[in-house]
Amino acid sequence: MNYTLVCTGCGCRYGSDYDRQICDSCDGILDVVYSGAVRIGRPSRFWDMEGVFPDSNYRHLDVGWTRLSKSTEFDNLLLKYEFDNPTGSFKDRGSVVEIAKAKEFGYHEVTCASTGNMAYSVAYYSKIYGIRSVIFISRDANRDKIRNIRSTNNSRIVRVDGDFTDAQAAAIRYSDRTGSFLTGDYCYRKEGQKSMAYEIMHSSRGIDDIIVPIGNATLFSGFFRGLLEMRKMGRIRDMPRLIGVEAAGCAPIADALDESRDARYVRPRTDADAIAVGMPTFWRQAVEAIRATGGKVVRVTDAEMRKEQRDFYISNGLVVELGGIASLAAFRKLGADRGRRTVAILSGKNV
Ligand SMILES: Cc1ncc(COP(=O)(O)O)c(C=O)c1O
Repeated sequence: MNYTLVCTGCGCRYGSDYDRQICDSCDGILDVVYSGAVRIGRPSRFWDMEGVFPDSNYRHLDVGWTRLSKSTEFDNLLLKYEFDNPTGSFKDRGSVVEIAKAKEFGYHEVTCASTGNMAYSVAYYSKIYGIRSVIFISRDANRDKIRNIRSTNNSRIVRVDGDFTDAQAAAIRYSDRTGSFLTGDYCYRKEGQKSMAYEIMHSSRGIDDIIVPIGNATLFSGFFRGLLEMRKMGRIRDMPRLIGVEAAGCAPIADALDESRDARYVRPRTDADAIAVGMPTFWRQAVEAIRATGGKVVRVTDAEMRKEQRDFYISNGLVVELGGIASLAAFRKLGADRGRRTVAILSGKNV
């Protein structure tokens, strides 16, 4: 779909040939704005949704259209198994879009800051497209994730002695200095990740709540974007409530909502590394989505996530990482017997 890029900070506009995801004049985050109404047929595979992505020369790689399965424990709960994606997390949905754009713009190298999952995904798809990757990894990234990134044989890993926010700043500096294409929690990834909203809403009816883990809130704000587009297309009438989950030890958006103020950086104190983001890039968009859908943010403790991880392993034989199981802990905390038909996103088998 034809599009322009608009800065969410200063409103500057750029054509689709602008080959960055950050505004040249104010360093703000850009958003994709389509030239006309987006329209697609009824999708039954990921690439059926290409019409709601920014135009590019996409190679139809294996990604998305993951299982949406009834929970064995709760009648009113559906689980979206995002660890079915090739690198084990929903990040692949965004990476296939973002890396295709980097290739289209003629880049030979991409840069990314990550706590692990996004880096693995970026390294994996870059390799397929014949592009090198440089990964700035936060101090809390676990060894298995680093091993996964290394397994692609396509990455230079730079360890940053800090959290995700420090790694992100280092990646931006590197990209500014070298001209490497900056990937990560930016506009093209958000477009790919909104595909999950399309999949869920086309696969099941009568969804009241969708529970989404929040790190940088790219997935969360992507969900809202997908729902808005579907409503415009007449595919849905009412929007489900979007319920975010943050770790109790790192909940900048929940704190901002509680205190009716802007989000402020908090030092992450959680072992759920995938959602240990002290200053979420898309916090404003997440707050807008929460207000517009009547949603909220639930805090879950590391102990609650650990218990959920253990129980899920016992009943399903699968180890899902703490951030990836947070939405199930949030469902329980909200009161499973609320009777609301709910989808919980499970992602990240990379532990
Ligand atoms: C398993 C998992 N869950 C949740 C998140 C948070 O997603 P986002 O940064 O889009 O909010 C991540 C991000 O890395 C993740 O890997």
